[in-house]
Amino acid sequence: MSDLKLIGPFKQLLPMTGLPLKGALSDDQLIVLKDAGILIADDKIHAIDNFDELKKAFHEAEIYELKGNHTGLPGFVDSHTHICFGGSRANDYAMRNAGMTYLEIAKAGGGIWDTVTQTRKASQEDLVKNTAKIAKRHLKNGTTTIEVKSGYGLSVDEELKILRAIRRANMETYADLVPTCLAAHMLPKDFAGSAEDYLNEMATTLFPILKQEGLTTRIDAFIEESAFSAKQIAPYFQKGKNMGFDLTVHADQFTTGGSQVAVDFEALSADHLEASAEREIELLAKSGTIATALPGASIGLGCSFTPARKILDAGGSVSIASDHNPGSAPMGDLLTQAAILGAFEKLSNAEVLAGITFRAAAALKLQDRGQLTKGFLADLAIFHTDDYKEILYNQGNLKPCSVWKNGTKVFD
Ligand code: NIG
Ligand code: FE
Repeated sequence: MSDLKLIGPFKQLLPMTGLPLKGALSDDQLIVLKDAGILIADDKIHAIDNFDELKKAFHEAEIYELKGNHTGLPGFVDSHTHICFGGSRANDYAMRNAGMTYLEIAKAGGGIWDTVTQTRKASQEDLVKNTAKIAKRHLKNGTTTIEVKSGYGLSVDEELKILRAIRRANMETYADLVPTCLAAHMLPKDFAGSAEDYLNEMATTLFPILKQEGLTTRIDAFIEESAFSAKQIAPYFQKGKNMGFDLTVHADQFTTGGSQVAVDFEALSADHLEASAEREIELLAKSGTIATALPGASIGLGCSFTPARKILDAGGSVSIASDHNPGSAPMGDLLTQAAILGAFEKLSNAEVLAGITFRAAAALKLQDRGQLTKGFLADLAIFHTDDYKEILYNQGNLKPCSVWKNGTKVFD
């Protein structure tokens, strides 16, 4: 017989089920269960029902009784981060706040290239430790699944070092780390050849090794003036797609063009979109590509937010991720950032919570999390409150009082 655990009673439990993947949501669409319990069998949810009823029916279950007021949500999914890196970019931040732009700093040799230099100097062991440490911090804040990109290696060997480090870091934390290859983050300054040559080398040499070693199923590219053009990325993405990789794009951060590529290649998600205007919003809303807002990058760079309200109203799907990275988004606190995005973009609780749960899981093509329902992973963020609205109202200051991952209590 499986290992049965019963958690409850929850004053409020939000299973985040029964909601559409796309479009605007209002809070009255949220299912809010009262006095519910969650019965866990091994790592999965076995049943959700009235706590007392479950207690009677499954007397062999180990009981985790919640005393006082508790509200339960699915563990959060952060579908876009760059937490495997060396060094710090505190200088960039100071320079930006003194008036230089992100692109000016990048052109002057700072920016992503600075982190590439520092990440190349770091050993795989250092990267494993640093990544696991950051992942544990996010887990404590309720994030049970974290996408992690490479992209600070920018050579076959260095990208492999990072992706192998992410795989090892995944063993050192209860959080699930979902790796993505971002070799197309920028043209490395030491590459002797054109952007086309570089991308061709990555696709022909790196992609097969990623497959052989099972290092990732996902390919990302930064489409921007300082990185790669839509035209340069097209053959790279085509090769990736032909090999069966899922695609995602850093799109429309400063200039538009990336979202068109994302839609043309049926990418799972188009992320950033701060510069997206009506045309891009329409395009994304009509597509199956999820629009990922990255409020941490807007806060870090002091620039505008992704037009999440307009994308939702146009019928699109919006996920919200932290973009945690040493350059543009050093804070990395998903719940805080999602709450702030909600305040600026006028998003309902339902829209924000969907953006960090099941819509974010869909952006990663993960069908076993982001909702609390039978057969899904028992990943939970539990808050000490009797009203779910308190969570976003506190703008990240109300932290989970306990976190569960795969049916195990990992923090309380
Ligand atoms: O998502 N936009 C490009 N890449 C990252 C930033 C990486 C960096 O500045 O180190 C982002 O914001
Ligand atoms: Fe990013």
